[in-house]
Amino acid sequence: MAENTLTLIDNRTNQTYKVPIENGAIRAMDLRQIKTGPEDFGLMSYDPAFMNTASCKSTITFIDGDKGILRYRGYPIEQLAEHCTFLEVAYLLIHGELPTEQQKRGWVDDIKHHTMIHETTKDFMARFRYDAHPMEILVSTLAALATVYPEAKNIADPENRRRQIVRLIAKVPTIAAYAYRHSLGFPYVYPDNDLSYTENFMNMLWKMVEPKYVANPVLARALDILFILHADHEQNCSANAMRAVGSSHPDPYLAAAGASAALAGPLHGGANEEVLKMLDVIGDKKNIPDYIKKVKEGQFLLMGFGHRVYKNYDPRARIIKQIAEQVFQVTGTNPKLEIALELEKIALQDEYFVKRKLYPNVDFYSGIIYEAMGFKPEMFTVLFAIPRMTGWLAHWQEMLTDKEQKIARPRQLYVGSDLRKVPEQFGIKAAIGA
Ligand code: CMC
Repeated sequence: MAENTLTLIDNRTNQTYKVPIENGAIRAMDLRQIKTGPEDFGLMSYDPAFMNTASCKSTITFIDGDKGILRYRGYPIEQLAEHCTFLEVAYLLIHGELPTEQQKRGWVDDIKHHTMIHETTKDFMARFRYDAHPMEILVSTLAALATVYPEAKNIADPENRRRQIVRLIAKVPTIAAYAYRHSLGFPYVYPDNDLSYTENFMNMLWKMVEPKYVANPVLARALDILFILHADHEQNCSANAMRAVGSSHPDPYLAAAGASAALAGPLHGGANEEVLKMLDVIGDKKNIPDYIKKVKEGQFLLMGFGHRVYKNYDPRARIIKQIAEQVFQVTGTNPKLEIALELEKIALQDEYFVKRKLYPNVDFYSGIIYEAMGFKPEMFTVLFAIPRMTGWLAHWQEMLTDKEQKIARPRQLYVGSDLRKVPEQFGIKAAIGA
């Protein structure tokens, strides 16, 4: 039977090494034994942007990017989107299994009883400039929650961890909705615990003077499915930030602020906002060929296209396209859809995109739906952050309970100046403290 090992020959020394292969990978630390002599530090692997480095073992999300497969804890994303609510999926991501009826009741009840934010946090949010970007408000307010729950620092206690996980999943829609109301100058709306997770979010966004907000069920379900689709995506930039920040053991509010900051960038969660800006710039189907030409010349990227992992159609984009039809029956069609569909059609036939395996990703159509629902583009990344909080927390918990994990601290290849002396012209400054 073939051996699960890799044999390496160091041509510098003619030495041979045998290293084990486990789960299709070798351990980078096994390379360290490969030295040219006792003074040599040992061989490292160089992998900018983690193109081929697994930083952890995980049981949360499985992606096969070539086949366009996405599963949470083994369940295909298509089935979860069809049969589950977002809070059931959140339970699955955090606990590893779908809840029983009794577990679900307890979980939903727990989340509902932590939706309010402290009045001082509400006041804190009210102090942002009138035109502050809602995503920046969210990032800052998540960090500010650390000041309200100092006991969250005790991350070694599983019960304490669970309490903070519930708080974060419960409060992120409240913070998101307040960030939105703030940008409109509207008063904040307190959570309504009679409503589902998504309906309550809609209530905090859009309730005006009516005594009870009633969400449109089609839009509420569409938003719930969008939340399911965005809940996790294995070691993406923000999950990696959550793990990296969390690895130095701050409380989860600070780690979540770091993760959401990573999400805010236009190459990650910020892409959905950029897609809408791009469709505005294109303006009309007739301008698409010229736009594509400029993309191919490298003037800018086609936002909402391409993915580090998917080299096939993003399965989430396929589900989102179906949701779009249902939403538009309620809201009326978003005229940008026509431009997006045509853009996709042209891009998928173009050699530049075919050769590079660039397909629409989750962000390509989500913004068009959000806009039809009444959101401004500035809110799109916030809408991504709400469900992704669950994924971040699942990763945070997995990282903390993984005995192999330590503080995340990559190596570097130093390629800067060799030892040098500060030039004489700088003289000698007064001694510190003199
Ligand atoms: N438009 C035009 N060309 C592209 C695009 C694009 N959207 N994406 C990649 N390419 C080209 C890129 O220029 C490169 O070409 P070449 O080989 O000639 O240098 C080739 O395709 C490979 O791209 P890459 O930059 O090496 O791929 P990556 O895995 O490092 O980047 C990505 C992945 C998602 C950052 C990138 O595709 C991108 O910037 N897309 C646009 C932003 C976007 O939609 N982001 C959302 C990602 S999905 C949701 C999420 O994760 O938040």
